[in-house]
Amino acid sequence: MTGTAQATALIAAAGSGERLGAGGPKALARLGGRAMVEWSVEAFGAAGRVGAVLVAAPPGGAGQLAALLPEVTVVDGGESRSDSVAAMLERADTEAVVVHDAARPLVTPALIDAVLARLGDSPEFAGVVAAARLTDTVKESGGEGEVERTLDRSRLWAAQTPQAFRAEALREALADPAARAEATDDAMLVERAGGRVLLQEAPRENLKVTTPLDLRLAELVLAERH
Ligand code: CTP
Ligand code: MG
Repeated sequence: MTGTAQATALIAAAGSGERLGAGGPKALARLGGRAMVEWSVEAFGAAGRVGAVLVAAPPGGAGQLAALLPEVTVVDGGESRSDSVAAMLERADTEAVVVHDAARPLVTPALIDAVLARLGDSPEFAGVVAAARLTDTVKESGGEGEVERTLDRSRLWAAQTPQAFRAEALREALADPAARAEATDDAMLVERAGGRVLLQEAPRENLKVTTPLDLRLAELVLAERH
């Protein structure tokens, strides 16, 4: 991959948003006067290292998303998040791709370009993942709630998206449907397939909207930005 070739963006927006409970797909939940997915599409459109943008739509939602987002290619999502990413990857024809969750609407063009630039500068790595240092101390426990272990926080990172990959490495990692079903991000599948992955420090502000509290926090950050 050359440092200047543009990457294809793969935006996963096909989830049902059960934990948010907004009564419809999370990508269409209102945030700052728009559908949540529009914030990510705008950021990717403004990133210099991104060419085409693909978006995975929830069941029955492709038409609505295509009308809302005329500048992107809408693809039908799959049963799991990784199935949705795999469906978009089939349509990508660039050497590099950058995967993002529509559930992270506060992503910036600067962060998107940073993970892609780092991948271009790191030929021995298969992927670069945006991540924030943890601020909580993490404890491991079994079913009964007794602490088994306290992890060393200085070594722990919370993985976010965007995640940039060499398309070939991601294709290989996503090939097994059983592995896809249990993955919570793409980098873990690339790691499992033997690919080396780098962390790119990212702000905690690039938060993931999972619950109604997260939506309130995202509203506050957006109000501060605009
Ligand atoms: N996603 C997807 N395809 C799926 C499942 C999830 O594209 N089959 C996307 C979601 O749209 C979201 C991202 O993956 O942008 C992260 O998933 P998550 O936060 O779990 O979103 P939902 O699955 O929609 O929410 P929930 O798990 O609460 O139902
Ligand atoms: Mg989910």
